[in-house]
Amino acid sequence: MIKIAPSILSANFAAMGEAVSNLSEQGADWVHFDVMDGNFVPNITFGPDMCKALRPLTKLPIDVHLMVEHPGDWIEPFKKAGADIVTIHVESSERHLHRVLQSIHAAGMKAGVVLNPATPVSACVHLLPECDLVLLMSVNPGFGGQSFIPETLRKIRELRNEIDARGLNTLIEIDGGVNPETAKRCIEAGADVLVAGSAVFKAHDPAEMIKSLRG
Ligand code: DX5
Ligand code: ZN
Repeated sequence: MIKIAPSILSANFAAMGEAVSNLSEQGADWVHFDVMDGNFVPNITFGPDMCKALRPLTKLPIDVHLMVEHPGDWIEPFKKAGADIVTIHVESSERHLHRVLQSIHAAGMKAGVVLNPATPVSACVHLLPECDLVLLMSVNPGFGGQSFIPETLRKIRELRNEIDARGLNTLIEIDGGVNPETAKRCIEAGADVLVAGSAVFKAHDPAEMIKSLRG
């Protein structure tokens, strides 16, 4: 079953609590939480305090996508804030990705790495045994509302083959430009989790949109 993770980056920031508390009954599986530091990416969003404030409003897993330099510094703060899943970029300044993945697990959370569009699948292959999920960016990180990069589909197929050949359960998550049409292509290529920001939060009927993304 495909999981849908609405990205609250596209929600109304002035009504964030309401947006998050509605997600469960709208059919979402995870809450995707985009952390940007204005350094790794050219935008700033929110951090652990926002996660802590939203935590009591939903039972859904909070999926923290760290678009920051030194992601290892943020594992404990996000654990304390109630996060369930943390993903870190292989392109960040963190030199010891494997160690940070272990520290996410040691904190009792699910762990994964994220690959930018320009980063080959091979960059995560030796980390797969430590990854509950791999997030493939299908846009350049930093902003919602961008167009899906079709080359991502080749990366999904390549990663799917690698995961299946090794008999792993690692989930493939896709982030950026997901709409009903690109969602279908991602699912066909082997994706397990689809992040969707503008598609869900700009929809007249978010519940209906979540259903159609799931296919
Ligand atoms: C981009 C973020 C995405 C973003 C996706 O840097 O990681 O999660 O919110 O937004 P849409 O679905 O609008 O492309
Ligand atoms: Zn994201």
